[in-house]
Formats: sequence, structure tokens, C-alpha cells
Amino acid sequence: MENAKLRELLEDMSLEEKLGQLTQVAGTLYGEEAIVTGLLDMFQMSDEVLDISGSVLSVHGAEKLMALQKQQMEKQPHHIPQIFMYDIINGFQTIYPVPLGQGATFDPELVKQLAHMAAVEGSASGLHVTFSPMVDLVRDARWGRVMESTGEDPYLNALLGVAMVEGYQGNDVKEKGNLAACVKHFAAYGAPEGGRDYDNVELSERTLREDYLGAYEACVKAGAKLVMTSFNTLNRVPSSGNRWLMRDILREEMGFDKVLISDYGAIKEMMNHGFSKDEKQAAEQAMKAGVDIEMMSCAYFRHMRELLEEGTIDEEMVDEAVWRVLVLKNELGLFENPFKDASKEDEKEKILCKEHRALARRAAVDSFVLLENQEEILPLSKEKEERIAFVGPYAKEKEIFGSWSFPEDLGGIITIQEGVEAKKLKASCTYDSGAFLFDERTKLKDGTFYEPDFSLGEEMMKEALEHVKQADKVVVCIGEHSKQTGEATSRTKLTVSDGQMALLKKVHEMNKEIITLVFAGRPIELDEIAAYSKAILYVWFPGTEGGNAIADVLFGDEEPKGRLPMSFSHRGGQLPNYYNRFASGRPNDGTLNQGFVMGYIDQTDTFMYPFGYGLTYTRFDYSDITLDKSQMTASDRITASVTVTNTGKREGTETVQMYLQDLFGTVVRPKRMLKGFEKITLAPGESQKVSFTITEEMLRFWNIDMDFVSEPGDFKVYIGGNSACTNQADFVLK
Ligand code: BGC
Repeated sequence: MENAKLRELLEDMSLEEKLGQLTQVAGTLYGEEAIVTGLLDMFQMSDEVLDISGSVLSVHGAEKLMALQKQQMEKQPHHIPQIFMYDIINGFQTIYPVPLGQGATFDPELVKQLAHMAAVEGSASGLHVTFSPMVDLVRDARWGRVMESTGEDPYLNALLGVAMVEGYQGNDVKEKGNLAACVKHFAAYGAPEGGRDYDNVELSERTLREDYLGAYEACVKAGAKLVMTSFNTLNRVPSSGNRWLMRDILREEMGFDKVLISDYGAIKEMMNHGFSKDEKQAAEQAMKAGVDIEMMSCAYFRHMRELLEEGTIDEEMVDEAVWRVLVLKNELGLFENPFKDASKEDEKEKILCKEHRALARRAAVDSFVLLENQEEILPLSKEKEERIAFVGPYAKEKEIFGSWSFPEDLGGIITIQEGVEAKKLKASCTYDSGAFLFDERTKLKDGTFYEPDFSLGEEMMKEALEHVKQADKVVVCIGEHSKQTGEATSRTKLTVSDGQMALLKKVHEMNKEIITLVFAGRPIELDEIAAYSKAILYVWFPGTEGGNAIADVLFGDEEPKGRLPMSFSHRGGQLPNYYNRFASGRPNDGTLNQGFVMGYIDQTDTFMYPFGYGLTYTRFDYSDITLDKSQMTASDRITASVTVTNTGKREGTETVQMYLQDLFGTVVRPKRMLKGFEKITLAPGESQKVSFTITEEMLRFWNIDMDFVSEPGDFKVYIGGNSACTNQADFVLK
């Protein structure tokens, strides 16, 4: 529709219609079967709102959504189409690794392809918008939603966030197979105190700007069509009512002129925060902050008329919000084609098609991080006639897709057993659960219960151990329950259940040839698990093709190449913890009991595994770093190079990482910061030169006067295989 016609439409709309466009309701309220991601009963939506709302969340299905679109358009005085939004976080029906696993791929191109695949499936199913990417920076694994982030590094997060936006939206959201992306949760939702979901966030403006805002901004600049507010307060102001954050930073500084949607019920929740005295004030504050769509509460619908009549809010402000929603509908092409790509035939053809499965398998393989591999126990041989016992709850488990995926057909998910059996090995394998994912009946966040027949526990363990006793090697498949990750799943104990740990120890009493696979949506404590394992492969929640991908890597058809997107601490008590911290005035040397130095008395201030870490089935040597010059001016650049050699016996992929350190400044600077990486694949004995360009922009930060500038001085560049690498060179910025 032409802009002039869209304007005419806006001018012709009644206030109720306008407020309808600004209200989003859950599909369940239309009697549709839909996922529910928040509280339903709190919002008391009237039929009037349901008739006139402008968008719906959490229903999918071409037929269902075409019918709903028709029904709702008939009810609307101007027959304005609805937008259908959905949380497609790591795949729609073909599920790929959770975002933290995608972070581990260090592969923006792959992540873009995955997002595109999700968009093709989701759009065929009638959807228009996905509530992704989530680019909240995360430094505290107690927070369950670290699973939905690509990790703790601002640079990596921004790259992967942009890759997702580009993958979902393509060149034009209107085109077939594309979805509009919604960047969330603005801002700093990933830093709640104590890692408690929905708790408050206190950050200095410098930290907020330097570490947290960059990824959202990069996604905005990449053209994301929506941004979502966050549940948290930021420095004591709830995001959905934070004028400085939304109007000054998001709209003015970042130039975002598209749709800002609240998180689920977040406008009304400002009353709980003690920021709004009632629902009417919440409506006023959110509108003044520039929130366009109110998700799952009715403050706008119920109170805006009064706010306009008394002159608290200008009609212009409401019109501006409605305009943005209409523009989004227009950009999606909904006025011409309200069903967009909804098609039963396409659903059939695209969903879980061969190419999508192949891509999901590739992504799962690339996300796995090999943390230990003593005596090169991995890869296992496909040719050897040996006995391998797979034990642990994940040996046969289908729920390996994380808590933000809603596959309709669990039958399509490949378990470890299925993946290994498909390999047609000479080895003979057994598969036993041996333990439960929880130690007792547990209420999960969706209200269902984990309640297997616990009385069978001993028998299960016994059967598993029978096979372990006779086995040459044991693959222990343990981890978190998928519903222990994602929203509302903060944890204080970052371990696997006692039962699973007991199983691992018993296995170890009988058989030392142990390979442990860990399924998790966050870094968990691995010291104890490592003590009983020769190899550890961290597989996150790998998705539909998980079992095949695991078999590929275990038996050497593929090599592990993932790198940790979050540092792994030894204990939860060290959190928050991240590689790019600041130096202390009393630094420690990584040992215990040094007296009056920074750290703990009962745990070394070290990582179990640092950010960027991951082994392969081969080894890489790095030459010293060479610089083309050791001094630069602001308009100059330095090229830093290393030669990397595969010194092992197999082909392998190395993720060569470059970190920079600013040695002193008007404010202190992080110990090091990732500023570039390159993945290279080398045959045994092969060498390759890898070069990175260092520019002045990479050295900028918010200085003592809160100007974003670089400061002349001394710097170090580190190039190596992880954030703790020691290969370094010095340079000067004049
Ligand atoms: C989550 C969002 C999600 C929304 C809609 C909320 O509870 O915080 O990330 O997009 O629900 O499902």
C-alpha cells in the first residue's frame, strides 16, 4: 500500500481501533491451541479487545492462522490484517542447537543459514514475526536464559545477532520465506542480580554502553523490524517505562524508528515494580517511553482514552505508535496478502525436509565442544569389534531441543541410540538410562511434573551397570533437563542430578574408559565430572538431528570444532565470571592461599575452561605473532599475522582468535577483548598464515569524560586458540 493511503487509513481509524493495533493477545484467548509463555489469568482481556487487537502471539499452523486472519479481519471495521508472532528461537520444526550452542560455532554464515531455514518453515506455517534474536549479554550461568544468548562476548554476540536478523529477514521481509526479526530484550536483561530471572539490573552507564548495548545496536543497524523491551528494571527504572533508554538511546542514538513491543505483560508489571501506582499510570509511562505494542496486558486499551482526554498524552504520540504498526504490516505485504506465505503444501514440503535436516545436523556437529580427550580416547572406531555401553538418561531421550522449541512431532527427533545404530558399526552397543534427570518428583516451569517411576531407579542402574561391566568403553550421557533451562529457570546448583553423578561414579568403579556427553543450556560445574571422565563432549541441546550429529563426532566422521561462548567456572560461587574482567590492584597468580590478594580462600580464581576454548581431534601450533609495524596513528592500521600448523594426524578446524588489550587508560580497561577470529581447516602437516587487521576503531571505549574515543598508548595483541592464549605482541597507538 502506498504511504499516502496508509496515512488515510490511520486518519480514518477510531481510537478503539488504534488501541487495538497497539494490543497483542495470545492465541489461546481465541481458543487456539498455543504455547503459553507467561501468566494468562492476570490480564482479563475483554471480548472487545480480542475482536480488535492488531496482533496475536504463539499460534502457528497455516490453516489455523488463515482462518484466524479471516475471522479477525471481518471483525475489524477497516479489515486490517493481524500480525502473527511466535518465539522461533532455535528452529521452528527442524530444531537446531540452542543459541548458546550456535554461539559455540563461531560461524555467522552458518547461523544466518539456520535463521533463514527457520523463517522458511515458520512463514509457511503462517507466521510473520519471530521474537528473536535475543542478544542479551550473559555473564552468570545461574540465569536460565543464558541458553537463549550467544554468550558473554560483545563482539561475538553482535556478529551472531546480525547474522540472525539477516537470515530471518532476507533482503525484503515481504518476500516469500522471510520473517521480521524482533531483537530482545532491551536492555541488559541478561544481567539480573544473583542470576535470578526477572530481578533488577544495576549497571554503570559505561558498562551498559560498552558491553551490553552494542549487540542490540548492531541488530538495529542491520534493519531489525522490531525491538522488545525487557522485564527488568535498569538502574531502578523498568525498561518498558524508561524514557531515557527507549526514546534517547534506542530511538535517537541508535536511530530505531520501527516497532517497539513490550515483553509479555511487562507494562502492567511496572505496578509490581513500584514504578506505576496503577494501570493507568503504567499506560502513560509506557506510551511516553515510546512502547508501541503492549503484549498481553490491556493498559493502553483501558486507559488511553482518559489519558488523551485529560491531556496527559497527545494523540500524536498514539498515532505515531499506530503508524509504526501499520508500516510494519505494510512492509510485510499484509494489506495485499494477509496470509503472506501461509500454505499447507509448503508446510508439508519444507518442514523437516531433507535439506533442513542436513543443515541442522551440520550445525549440531559444529556446536559441540570437546573439553577433554585424554589418551585420545575419541574418536571411537567404526571398525573395531568392541563393546560400547551407552548409559545415562540421554542415551535414549528425545527431548534434546531445549525449552524454547515446540516440535510437533517428537518422532522426528534422532536420539543417540538411533544415531549410533544408523552408523552400522562393527562394535556392539547397549543403551540404558541408568538414572533420572531429577532425583525426585519435580514441578517443571510449564506446570507439568517430572514423575517417572522412581521405584525403578535401583533396577535401572543395575541393568546399566551389567552392560558397563562387560563393555570396553562407556559413553555416559547426562545433563540438565531441558526445562531446567530457558525462561524462569535460574539455578543455584549448577550440576547434574545426584542420581546421574552416582551413575557416573559407579561406572568409574568398574570401567575407566569413559566418554561423557553433557547436555545443558548453560555452563555447569564440571570439575567432578572431569575427574571421572577421559573425554567430555559438551553438546548443549542439539535439536532434531542431535543423535546423528553425536554419532558423527563420536565415531570420527566429523571432528568437533565448537568453542566455548561462555567461560566455565569451577563453581557457581565464582559467578558472575567472564574472561574480559579487569585487573585487580592485588592480582592473584591463580593459586590458593596467597594472602591479601583478590580472589577466594576456597577456590582458585581460575576458569575450568576459558572462553573460546575447545579441543579438536588434532593439534595446532602457532608461530610467534608478526606485526607489519609496531606503531600506528588513528588513520593507520596494523596487520598482525601468525602461521598455524596442524601438527596432528587428522584434518582439523581451528578457530584462530585475536584479542586486544589496552594497557592503561583514563578508566581501566578489560584484561583482553575479542576483536576478530577466523576458522581454518588444515590437513595434517599443513600450515596457513592468518592475518588480522587492527584499526583505531577497535581501540575505542567510553573514557573518563564519557566520550567514545581511543587513547594513545601501549597495547597488546594476543592470537591463539582461546581467550587464555599467551602468544602476544606489543604495539603503540600514537
Ligand atoms: C519472554 C520473551 C518472549 C515472550 C513471548 C516472554 O515471557 O520473555 O522472550 O518472546 O514471552 O512468548
